[in-house]
Amino acid sequence: MATDTIDRAAGGSQPIPRHIAIIMDGNGRWAQQKGMPRTAGHAVGAETFRRIATYCKDLGMDHLTVYAFSTENWKRSRDEVGAIMGLLKKYLLESIEKMERDRIRLKILGDTSALSPELQELIRKTEIIAERLPGCFQANVCLNYGGRDEIVRAAERFRREHPGEPITEEGIASCLDTADIPDPDLIIRTGGEYRISNFLLWQCAYAELLFTDVLWPDFSEKDIDDAIDAFRHRDRRYGGVKV
Ligand code: IPE
Ligand code: IPE
Ligand code: MG
Repeated sequence: MATDTIDRAAGGSQPIPRHIAIIMDGNGRWAQQKGMPRTAGHAVGAETFRRIATYCKDLGMDHLTVYAFSTENWKRSRDEVGAIMGLLKKYLLESIEKMERDRIRLKILGDTSALSPELQELIRKTEIIAERLPGCFQANVCLNYGGRDEIVRAAERFRREHPGEPITEEGIASCLDTADIPDPDLIIRTGGEYRISNFLLWQCAYAELLFTDVLWPDFSEKDIDDAIDAFRHRDRRYGGVKV
């Protein structure tokens, strides 16, 4: 860990989180408050994600996981879904160009089979590039992701790949989209709602949770510093008793 990282996060007894996950909520309200269409909030939110991913990488974290589009977000208007898919395409195209230069591994989590063939092809390209970046900071983007859907897909995969074997926690975990990713240490939700909305249901078992009213497009590097500071003062007991 870099010295400046330790200084910035000084004060608590926990080390800094290795893996932060974020429910990036509040794009629509941010835009509406400014008299703009909801889609304008998604565009600014995409920029916020780029900025925060770079910051987390520079702080020396291993993983940042963000919730970009849920299995329930298809309920939104055609225009809004189309705009979000357009932004994802733009992000994937830029990542294909910049991943190696920036040393950021991109991984898409969720049921990508429901996405357009064009997006699926771009995701395949990012996977090939990511293979060339072992050990680099990893940005996991949850796309058509739902925690329940992920667990069902994992159970189906387990049954297919391990017929007749007893079901174990390790077995299920090894079939999740996050199979090679450690559980998040800290989950942040922006936008003022106090719920999980089907995010990382399996993986959140012992994550620390932090809710902030800040709308995602306004979320800053300082907000990450504050979240890390709060995390470092938490007492993680995992069901045990502190001696
Ligand atoms: C989160 O922002 C981004 C997505 C769900 C795609 P919202 O679009 O949910 O913004 P609010 O909650 O309506 O303000
Ligand atoms: C959660 O936000 C999903 C994402 C941030 C992608 P939502 O805005 O969809 O969640 P609800 O509807 O407020 O629970
Ligand atoms: Mg929302």
